Amino acid sequence: MSTLPGPPEAIARGRLVRVAAVEDVPPGWVLKVRLGSREIALANCGGAFLAIDNACTHAGGPLGDGRLKEGCSVECSWHNSVFDARTGEVLRGPARKPVRTYPVTVEDGGVFVALDAPA
Ligand code: FES
Repeated sequence: MSTLPGPPEAIARGRLVRVAAVEDVPPGWVLKVRLGSREIALANCGGAFLAIDNACTHAGGPLGDGRLKEGCSVECSWHNSVFDARTGEVLRGPARKPVRTYPVTVEDGGVFVALDAPA
C-alpha cells in the first residue's frame, strides 16, 4: 500500500490544474472531470479529495459515476471491478492492474490535480 503525497510534494512534482471547486464534489461522491483528452475521476472521501484515471484497467469502463463505495473505493459500472481511490489498488476483479492516481491539493476553495506527477 502506498502513501498519498501531501500538497507540497504534489506542487513540487506536478503541473497543478484546477479541476473543480470544493463544493462541486460533495463527500461520498465521485465525479468525472474532462481535461482535454484526459478524464479524471475526482472523489471526495470524507473531505479528502482523491483523483484517479476515469478508465478502468480491465476494459476502460468509467470510474467517475456517482457514489463512493465503502472505504473510499470506486466500482466500475461495466463489469464491477472495485478500486481503492486512495491508492489505485484493485480490491475486486476482473481488473488486475491498479488504476493511476494523481496527487491532489485544495487551495482557496479549489481542487487541484498534479497531472504530470509520476504514477
Ligand atoms: S471495464 Fe471495468 S470491470 Fe470491465
